[in-house]
Amino acid sequence: MSDGKTRFGMSRADKERLLAAMRGQPVPGPDHGRTARRHIAPELLRFDTLPGYTEIRVQQAVARQAGLGEVFYVCHDGLATNHTCIGGRELLNFSSYDYLGLNGDPRIRAAADDAARHCGMSASASRLTAGERPPHRRLEKLLAGMYGTEDCLCFVSGHGTNMSTLGCLFGPRDVIFYDALCHNSLLLGATLSGATRIAYPNNDMTALAALLEERRYEHQRAVIVTEGLFGMDGCLCDLPRLVQLKREHGCLLMVDEAHSMGVVGATGRGVREHFGLAPDDADIWMGTLSKTFCGCGGYIAGSAALVEFLKYRAPGFVYSVGMPPPMAAASTEAVRIMLAEPERLERLHANGKRFLSLARERGLDTGKAQGFAVIPVMAGDSLTAAIFSQEVRDRGVLALPMIYPGVEEGKARLRFFISAMHTDEDLRDAVDAAAESLPIARQKAVAYAR
Ligand SMILES: Cc1ncc(COP(=O)(O)O)c(C=O)c1O
Repeated sequence: MSDGKTRFGMSRADKERLLAAMRGQPVPGPDHGRTARRHIAPELLRFDTLPGYTEIRVQQAVARQAGLGEVFYVCHDGLATNHTCIGGRELLNFSSYDYLGLNGDPRIRAAADDAARHCGMSASASRLTAGERPPHRRLEKLLAGMYGTEDCLCFVSGHGTNMSTLGCLFGPRDVIFYDALCHNSLLLGATLSGATRIAYPNNDMTALAALLEERRYEHQRAVIVTEGLFGMDGCLCDLPRLVQLKREHGCLLMVDEAHSMGVVGATGRGVREHFGLAPDDADIWMGTLSKTFCGCGGYIAGSAALVEFLKYRAPGFVYSVGMPPPMAAASTEAVRIMLAEPERLERLHANGKRFLSLARERGLDTGKAQGFAVIPVMAGDSLTAAIFSQEVRDRGVLALPMIYPGVEEGKARLRFFISAMHTDEDLRDAVDAAAESLPIARQKAVAYAR
């Protein structure tokens, strides 16, 4: 149109700004010179024009049209163990990170109750200003002991732990090499730091070695970042080789043990124990307390200097409330029970292997899974994965889909989280449900696309 308006009645400049905002690109500012009227496109003052909003709405509309119920944000009626109840219907549960089945344990409730009575529910403010409570340091000492490191620090969020730690330890003159399958919190932490970010293909140590050779020496500090057990794919990192490479190229090594601490290793001490390595083979051991340890928050274990630095510089620690004391006490008790009752880990390890072999026998594609607590069953596109989840639920099994943008389109999957509490019958029923459901999901997705 010649009057400078588009057919939606919006000026061309406004439309450009809207399109840039929707693409996630920097929004060009009004370019009218100093005397021109300042103009802000109304679309920039709304949330439904945010990049990604349309994508969410389209996914929801497709799910509704395909006859799917609520895929995400399902409300459990109460405690979810190996079984759960949703809207009064009992389901076999494969959707919780409660790997050792400790979440409903009365001893953990008692520990939390006791801490609540003595210390209250909240730490009220940052520990830097409002002070600490005995459960904080007790948990940190216990975790440092599990790794054999000098110290440990607990943050109120696992996600925030990664963001804050990478964000404050590294800067624009540094470089972060990270596994392409690393969790969002690690990627955001790397972005926040302002360091150069270089991804290497998952567990590809040859590619990492080449990248280190080529790029490490342009920078000051360098860190290699990996997960211990990859939460999306259920495979272990190649820790021995990572340690070798970090030594060869003068890097630090950070290992996120969200899914491996309390899961991997003969006594649950994570990938360090599994591979028989020393405490200082990695420089930054990270983990979350929200999974096996039935609490909330994350930790960093390492040298005294690292912990001291984070205590005064990590924004998610300095400027955020301390972990609620009952949560710290609950996680402490969970660690104690794990160490005192090794049969839980034995069952978890046996269940993981059993589920994997049952799934493979039925011809399911379990991707890179190695038979630990996370086992994906690959579905393909996001719609197939969503229908797959609904189909297994119709057969009495709860396992949630991981779809785009959580994983690349075409690599959507159901993730089965294995627990020590699952019985052999649970595992067989779940695999049967998955094997029956997947071909049906594929047919329905194809029919829907026609
Ligand atoms: C590998 C990894 N790191 C960090 C986090 C964040 O932990 P949290 O959920 O405890 O905040 C998660 C969450 O699932 C994770 O999978």
